[in-house]
Formats: sequence, C-alpha cells, structure tokens
Amino acid sequence: MKLFVLLALFGLSVAQHNPHLRQGRTSIVHLFEWRWADIAEECERFLGPNGFGGVQISPPNEHIVLGSPWRPWWQRYQPISYNLCSRSGSESELRDMITRCNNVGVNIYVDAVINHMCGAGGGEGTHSSCGSWFNAGTKDFPSVPYSNLDFNDYKCRTSSGNIENYSDKYQVRDCRLVSLLDLALEKDFVRDKVADFMNKLIDMGVAGFRVDAVKHMWPGDLDAVSRRLHNLNSKWFPDDAKPFIFQEVIDLGGEAISAPEYFHLGRVTEFKYGAKLGTVFRKWNNEKLCYTRNWGEGWGFMPNGNALVFIDNHDNQRGHGAGGAAILTFWDPRLYKMSVGFMLAHPYGVTRVMSSFHWDRHFVNGKDQNDWMGPPSHGNGSTKPVPIKPDQTCGDGWVCEHRWRQIKNMVIFRNVVNGQPFTNWWDNNSNQVAFGRGNRGFIVFNNDDWDLNMTLSTGLPGGVYCDVISGQKEGNACTGKQIHVGSDGRAHFFISNKDEDPFVAIHVDAKL
Ligand SMILES: *[C@@H]1O[C@H](CO)[C@@H](O)[C@H](O)[C@H]1NC(C)=O
Ligand SMILES: *[C@@H]1O[C@H](CO)[C@@H](O)[C@H](O)[C@H]1NC(C)=O
Ligand SMILES: *[C@@H]1O[C@H](CO)[C@@H](O)[C@H](O)[C@H]1NC(C)=O
Ligand SMILES: *[C@@H]1O[C@H](CO)[C@@H](O)[C@H](O)[C@H]1NC(C)=O
Repeated sequence: MKLFVLLALFGLSVAQHNPHLRQGRTSIVHLFEWRWADIAEECERFLGPNGFGGVQISPPNEHIVLGSPWRPWWQRYQPISYNLCSRSGSESELRDMITRCNNVGVNIYVDAVINHMCGAGGGEGTHSSCGSWFNAGTKDFPSVPYSNLDFNDYKCRTSSGNIENYSDKYQVRDCRLVSLLDLALEKDFVRDKVADFMNKLIDMGVAGFRVDAVKHMWPGDLDAVSRRLHNLNSKWFPDDAKPFIFQEVIDLGGEAISAPEYFHLGRVTEFKYGAKLGTVFRKWNNEKLCYTRNWGEGWGFMPNGNALVFIDNHDNQRGHGAGGAAILTFWDPRLYKMSVGFMLAHPYGVTRVMSSFHWDRHFVNGKDQNDWMGPPSHGNGSTKPVPIKPDQTCGDGWVCEHRWRQIKNMVIFRNVVNGQPFTNWWDNNSNQVAFGRGNRGFIVFNNDDWDLNMTLSTGLPGGVYCDVISGQKEGNACTGKQIHVGSDGRAHFFISNKDEDPFVAIHVDAKL
C-alpha cells in the first residue's frame, strides 16, 4: 500500500516534468513581450516549419500600467487581476494564438505570476491593462476579487514589510519581494483563484507554465495549487497529460532556499548553467572549454531530469536576476551564438532559447540606467508588431535571436540528435573541443586564439555534410562549408579563430 502511494505520487510529479513537446521537437523559445497576433503568425510561418517545440509567452493576465510613456517591461510582473487582457493583446487574440500554434505542433507555456499582485505603491485607479479598478494601498483587487485578507503581511516580521535577509526563509516567502503585495497562498480561497486562472489557460490549450518567483512561495502551497490543475486539453495532448511546470528558482548556492526543495513539483530553471557557460566562453577565472567534458551534473548542476536550461533570460540579460556580467547575450553575438550552439548540442536539460528586443543601454558606474525599458512601442504605448524583413530577420527593434541562422539550425540539430548519447569527445587541453551525439550529429568549437586544423572521429556515416553554422543545406548544395566524412567516420576540420563563427556543426539531415 505504501509503495503504491509512493509510486502514485512519483507518477504525478514526473508527469509535470514532461514538456509534452510534439513530433520530435526539443526546444522552447521565449518570445519576450511579443504580441499574441505576432506569435500566432510566427508559429505558422517560422516556428512550426523549423522544428521549434514551444513558446514561453509573457504574462497574459491583467497587469498594472505604469506612467506615460514610461511603461517598463516589468509592469507585466505586477498583476491586477486574472482577466486575460495584457500589453500583448486580448483574450480572443490569446485564444486564437494558442489554437493556431497548437495546430502547427508548437506548444504555448504561460509565464504565471502567482506569488504577488502589484507593488504596494501602485496607487488607486484604473491604470491597468484591462481598465479594472484597484487600490494597492488598501490591497483591494475587486476583479479577482482579493481583499486585504488575502495577503501575507500579517506573517511578515520585518519592519519594512519587505524581504531584508535572504538567509531567512520565512522572510523570503512571507514578506514582500521588492514591495510587491505578497499573496497568502496558504488560503484555500487564494489557491482556488490561482488554480482557476491556470485552469482556464489549460482548457484553452496551453501546455504548461513557467512559474515566476517560486523561491518566494512555500513548496506545500504550490503543491496544493498543482493538485487543483486540470489535465491538458485532449484536443492536442494525450489523455491524462499533466501541465508542464518549470519553476523560476534562482539558486547559485549559499542561500536559505535551494532548488531541490521544488524538484517534486516540476522542473526548475538552472541558473548556474548560463552563469558558468558564460564564464567558460569568456575565459574568465581561468576557465577553459576543455573543462566542459563533464558538463551538466558533473559541474554541480541539478539532475538532468529536473533542469530547464538557458544561456540568458529576460532578467539576467539586463543585469537583473542572477549571473552578473558573465551572462552572454545578443550584445556579444559571436560568443553568444557559440554558447547557444553548445547548449543545443549538449544532451543536458530541456533547452530554452531567448528572443529579445533592443533597448538603449546606458551604463553609469557599471549599471545600465535603461534596464527598465519596455518593448518597441508606438507613442501611445501600444507594443509594435514584429515586422519580418526580406532577409528573414526582424525589424523595429526586435532582435529575434531565434531566427539567426546559427541558432535556428542548432534547434534543428537538437531535434535530429534527440535521444542519442554524448560521444566522441575531443579537446586540445585548451579551448578547442568537439563532441558527437551518437551517429546523428557532431560539433566542433574553436574558442582559442589560433586555428584549429584537425582530423577527428565524428561517429557519422561517410559522406559529404553541410556545416549548419557557416551556411546550411539548400536543395543539393551547401551554402557554407562542406565536411567530408570518410567511411571510417573521420573528418578533417579547419576552423580559423578569425572565422565569423568559429564553430562547425554537421548532422545526418544536412548530408548531401
Ligand atoms: C538573517 O537570517 C539568518 C537566519 O535566520 C540569521 O542567522 C541572520 O542572523 C540574519 N541576518 C541578519 C543581518 O539579521
Ligand atoms: C496606438 O498607435 C498605433 C500607431 O499609430 C495604432 O495603430 C494603434 O491603434 C494605437 N493604439 C491605441 C490603443 O490607441
Ligand atoms: C590546441 O590545439 C591545437 C591544434 O588545434 C594545438 O596545436 C595546440 O597545441 C593545442 N593547445 C594546447 C594548449 O594543447
Ligand atoms: C593543416 O594541417 C595539415 C597537416 O595535417 C597541413 O598540411 C595544412 O597545411 C594545415 N593547414 C593550415 C591552413 O594550416
């Protein structure tokens, strides 16, 4: 009987670790601040055809609207209600996007902000994305409805009401995170409201949730919410499929709260991944790429089955969150493409690619004064659409890293090598490394300050392959480098340290 109960619990939790990606797809892209109408188009014209598995969307619920024309991106992390109208669009646009993305095999994952409502200083009025009235001062949010009975302040013991000491787990979970009104998730009423919100989205067809600020919630409270969640919509997902849950827990070590406390509830964002890989590719702290031979758990990361990995996210690409200056972003495109390529080639974790917007960086004493800037917008504050240029890149300030040839092709590489073992490692004791994925794909990096000129065992069948970094296979030709693999699986690689992208990747679907 005990064993049976244990297995049943284990079954529930493992289910929430499964992203339910379809048709051999393996990666998620975060289309940060995109409008629903643009995501629907992107699913049909680009993500579906190029093998992307899912989209993490920005929070879809009603949020505070701050200033004019201020409107920082983080206003969406200040909920006013669970009405589904936001800076990205209306409920009907959201529903249309979910349906159209699902119909081309691309899942939608919702960024769920359930730890808190808006900041205590958010004022009173209808400055909210659906125009609902609220009063932050009296903690009144009638369109949920939450009242002052639904917040944690009575439990918080700090004089400011805010978290002051991250070594005190009671403060971290019961006090306000940078003044945000902290919901009392121990109350059944609050749990029901949060679960109703998530269930509405599940019924609309989303595949799961990125849960925001999870460190600031008690695992038991999250478990109670999770038990209230519906199974995924059987129109697109298997019967009895549980929503995929990936939890934002920033744990670089040394704090009162650690990632393993949340492993049973779903996957967890592995923030060490991008911080360490950025340090390696930048060659800081005497790190070398050859040390990544045991990348993953060997580097002290969480177990593979728990990890959601990424090079940068919307917080740490602008100095918020974790990882500091080591984090690689689109601002360092050469090293960024290499590190994203490394992540997508390596078997560890469920991978998430970032897709950003430009902002006017302005550093004063090392701090970006414009780290608040919201997405490209019209003068009236509405978010601009994402225009696609003839060369397939994006305009109007949208960076679209996921459309960069090197990154798009590595998303495909990961699909092609899915399930294959990590094989044929080579390194030069320095910053030149290579590894394969069984007999399906092989990748070589030169992050040294001199050329790489080597014959390596690839594990691939003999033939001529197109490098998918310097170009790709188009029809019966390669638009970039060609790699000749002999019948013994060996191939010669030359990568100049001055190449635009000093790495080469080949896989069996890019063979002539
Ligand atoms: C922070 O909390 C920890 C754990 O309760 C405690 O040991 C430490 O003294 C606190 N630090 C301060 C500055 O209050
Ligand atoms: C804001 O301005 C844009 C561009 O002029 C326009 O297309 C859009 O309809 C406006 N939105 C609102 C809510 O007024
Ligand atoms: C790195 O590799 C090159 C060949 O690609 C080799 O000549 C060089 O000696 C290696 N460096 C180290 C430190 O092993
Ligand atoms: C690469 O190495 C081979 C010998 O293995 C040598 O013949 C060739 O000249 C080298 N190429 C370059 C560009 O250094």
